[in-house]
Amino acid sequence: MNIELPYAPFHYQSIIHNSKKRFKLIVAGRRAGKTKLAFYELLAHALGSSNRLGWWVATTYRDAKEIGWQFILDILPIIKPAIKNISYTDLRITFLNNSQIYFKGSDNPDALRGRGLTFLVMDEAAFQQEDVWKKVLRPALSDREGKALLISSPNGRNWFYTQHEYAKRPDIKGWMVDHWPTSINPLISPSDIEDAMNELSEQDFKQEYLAEFVTKAGMVYSDFDEANIIESFEYNFSEHDIYLGADFGYANPTSIIFAAVSRLTDEVVIFDEIYESRKTMSEILEMMERKLVANKIRKSEVKFIATDPAGNAEELTSGLSPVDTLRMEGGYEVINKGSRIAPGLALVRAFICNAKKKRRLYVVREGAPNLIRSIYGYSYKAKSYFSKDISEEPEKDGIHDHAVDALRYFFINAFDTSKYVASNIVQQDYLSEKSPALRQTRFLRCGKCGLKYMSKDPNRKLCSSCEEGTTHAE
Ligand SMILES: Nc1ncnc2c1ncn2[C@@H]1O[C@H](COP(=O)(O)OP(=O)(O)OP(=O)(O)O)[C@@H](O)[C@H]1O
Ligand SMILES: [Mg+2]
Repeated sequence: MNIELPYAPFHYQSIIHNSKKRFKLIVAGRRAGKTKLAFYELLAHALGSSNRLGWWVATTYRDAKEIGWQFILDILPIIKPAIKNISYTDLRITFLNNSQIYFKGSDNPDALRGRGLTFLVMDEAAFQQEDVWKKVLRPALSDREGKALLISSPNGRNWFYTQHEYAKRPDIKGWMVDHWPTSINPLISPSDIEDAMNELSEQDFKQEYLAEFVTKAGMVYSDFDEANIIESFEYNFSEHDIYLGADFGYANPTSIIFAAVSRLTDEVVIFDEIYESRKTMSEILEMMERKLVANKIRKSEVKFIATDPAGNAEELTSGLSPVDTLRMEGGYEVINKGSRIAPGLALVRAFICNAKKKRRLYVVREGAPNLIRSIYGYSYKAKSYFSKDISEEPEKDGIHDHAVDALRYFFINAFDTSKYVASNIVQQDYLSEKSPALRQTRFLRCGKCGLKYMSKDPNRKLCSSCEEGTTHAE
């Protein structure tokens, strides 16, 4: 039987197909042609001889179905003469030669039990857990000396980076390594790359398009420097839109940033801020209004206030949430659309400095000193004191996070994230959200004063005021 597959590999893909190495690891930029290469390598393996068993493992079951399995559906009429049966529920295809391919997601470890694999693809391997490769999939390749193709864009210097460094060593046999920037794919136009340079920070561009293993240095906003700080700002009615970003607290400070966005250039200036602990919402409202007057801005010119989607504050001591107060007493429009952390950080980074070294975020030195201090001090959590590894989550140290959170809420609500954030960043965030540390904030009732408060820690017993023994706001 002769099946003509609708795929002519590009030169750089042929090199991989032609290699006889048992293990192949490719680190590549977005849209470089990883998934297509991997799919056809796996298909050729299954059709090449009888009784072979191949697995396609994606980060999630959904990705396995929507990306890997979709390739099968797309070419079904062409491969039909070679198919014995196909299970749409198990995402499994069996060929007449008794070779099989399964499509799986490593978000469900139970689905990964099995052995006797003759071929494995891990698509976006760097976004899967190290144990999935080391403890589950690699051993499943042992009994039949199965082969593997690990393809991914980089995800910081995690296990995939270590594996890459290992595989590159001249004394290590059996592995091949290749590296493809996005521009290697002749179908990607130079203007697409140009757009990405404008819309991503240099660090994110290097990772997503040049496929470099960038280190997450300690600082979250490492490009922010004196060039982002200006001495003064004058509001101009015909040029600027005004927005506020707010992170509410009581024992912790409430932080509100005042942002002007130029309709001509998209440049953002943070010209004022509120950073105050132990203030009631009425006091905060009053302060906001005084700040607007001082900047010659009418209240009606504020487009909206962007806040935390999780609900606003650690405590709701007055019965009315801060968001309710802003809406009902302040008459403001308040927006708090879902904001996952990693895309928000990437968006802010793109404005601090993009890959073309253009800055579009400025902070007035005297206007928002707490924001400036927060940005400089905002760092990734070290995994442990002794480990050099840096986690993907910024530190919530209670000192540096409030003003930067307010800034991020403003950005995520005022700008279209999809334009500025590469899909892998979104994916990475999806995975980190599954970690227990980032589970949803929930309402708890204080064991002492009986008031409702919000916390990410379900085992917490007291609200922060009772915990600290301070008085509550009325
Ligand atoms: N040999 C080829 N012939 C024709 N088109 C190709 C070839 N290789 C890749 N492409 C096309 O290039 C685009 C990117 O390919 P693919 O999805 O495989 O890349 P990727 O690196 O997995 O991308 P992503 O970062 O989105 O996961 C797709 O439109 C794909 O069809
Ligand atoms: Mg892909």
